[in-house]
Amino acid sequence: MKRSTISSCFHAYSLIMMLICFALCLVATSQLTTDFYAKTCPNLAKIVRKGIQSAIKTEMRMGASLVRLHFHDCFVNGCDGSVLLDGSDSEKLALPNLNSARGFEVIDAIKSSVESECSGVVSCADILTLVARDSILLSGGPTWKVSLGRRDGLVANQTGANVSLPSPFDTLDAIISKFRVVGLNITDVVSLSGSHTIGFAKCATFSNRLFDFNGTGSPDASLESTMAGELQTLCPLNGDLNKIAPLDRNSVDLFDNHYFKNLLNNKGLLGSDQLLYSSELAPSTTKSLVESYSSDMNLFITDFVNSMIKMANISPLTGTAGEIRKNCRVVNS
Ligand code: HEM
Ligand SMILES: *[C@@H]1O[C@H](CO)[C@@H](O)[C@H](O)[C@H]1NC(C)=O
Ligand SMILES: *[C@@H]1O[C@H](CO)[C@@H](O)[C@H](O)[C@H]1NC(C)=O
Ligand SMILES: *[C@@H]1O[C@H](CO)[C@@H](O)[C@H](O)[C@H]1NC(C)=O
Ligand SMILES: *[C@@H]1O[C@H](CO)[C@@H](O)[C@H](O)[C@H]1NC(C)=O
Repeated sequence: MKRSTISSCFHAYSLIMMLICFALCLVATSQLTTDFYAKTCPNLAKIVRKGIQSAIKTEMRMGASLVRLHFHDCFVNGCDGSVLLDGSDSEKLALPNLNSARGFEVIDAIKSSVESECSGVVSCADILTLVARDSILLSGGPTWKVSLGRRDGLVANQTGANVSLPSPFDTLDAIISKFRVVGLNITDVVSLSGSHTIGFAKCATFSNRLFDFNGTGSPDASLESTMAGELQTLCPLNGDLNKIAPLDRNSVDLFDNHYFKNLLNNKGLLGSDQLLYSSELAPSTTKSLVESYSSDMNLFITDFVNSMIKMANISPLTGTAGEIRKNCRVVNS
């Protein structure tokens, strides 16, 4: 009898604590919502979709470039549109973006369509999130609901872009750490790397693998030899390092799981791609996921969508933080 009083008292106490915690959690996450612009910009999704359709019609690769832009935004100071800012501290001048990040004019065009219909209410960070989502869909991939309500940052962070964005020359360990810093885990590393099922990379990002890898006098041993030969022709020594090769040679513009099948055959383009399967660290981290995704498209899609949502929710500015930029390239005066 006494025991059950104590126990029900304990239950009531823990129930209250749980309710308080639940309420706090709700407050913390309810700042981003799927219907954030329902009243203030009801046609937002349509305007963005139209803008992407027209950009991709002009150039199929643009979908890939825009997905990458969203990723490079979110890894530096969170998803705050900082990658879009011009100026002396611009992230566009950081090593991973310089002469490489593209699609800014497409964002400008979509932002100006959005502004002409609902002026001053939709952030550049949210536009970039919607743009990435639609780019995946229009490349033949899945779609999902995105939470909105991000606000735009007031500063760019060139140092942040130099140090936080993964490099194709990083070790697997370094890549995993750069994801962990922003709250993403090994599943996210592998599923999001699956974005390399679309788009292109410059010779500059993989030519180190082609002739004298690590001073061996030979190409990277984990690069399939016919592919290595073809890439040597595209990217000869002292040649033009701006030439490009598809990240997924099998189905260049189509969002599918062929990227992972390639890795099983040593046909990853970037050193960092192939490491997910071939690194010494891979068996204890990423390898089994590469194998699973290579044989199970649905699992890849499910995990990819979850990871895209996680990435889009990295440190958003909400409430009264930041601002709604009028022009994505400059902070409001
Ligand atoms: C895991 C670490 C990653 C590394 C080291 C990496 C590195 C790279 C590099 C070097 C390029 C080629 C850039 C150029 O030559 O101009 C590239 C392209 C691309 N990346 Fe990644 N990336 C990583 C993860 C991601 C993630 C997480 C996403 C998206 C969620 C992504 C999406 C893309 C896309 C779509 C392209 C093609 C862009 C285009 O064609 O313009 N990457 N990446
Ligand atoms: C970032 O890297 C670029 C390219 O290497 C370099 O020119 C720039 O000075 C770096 N910026 C900062 C702030 O470290
Ligand atoms: C820039 O990014 C670095 C690395 O993430 C971070 O330590 C620093 O606080 C950021 N600076 C600004 C001004 O946001
Ligand atoms: C990564 O996080 C997701 C939840 O966001 C979880 O489902 C998954 O199991 C985690 N993966 C690893 C390897 O911990
Ligand atoms: C290549 O060299 C780097 C740096 O010396 C080393 O960490 C890496 O393990 C080497 N990789 C191979 C495949 O030999």
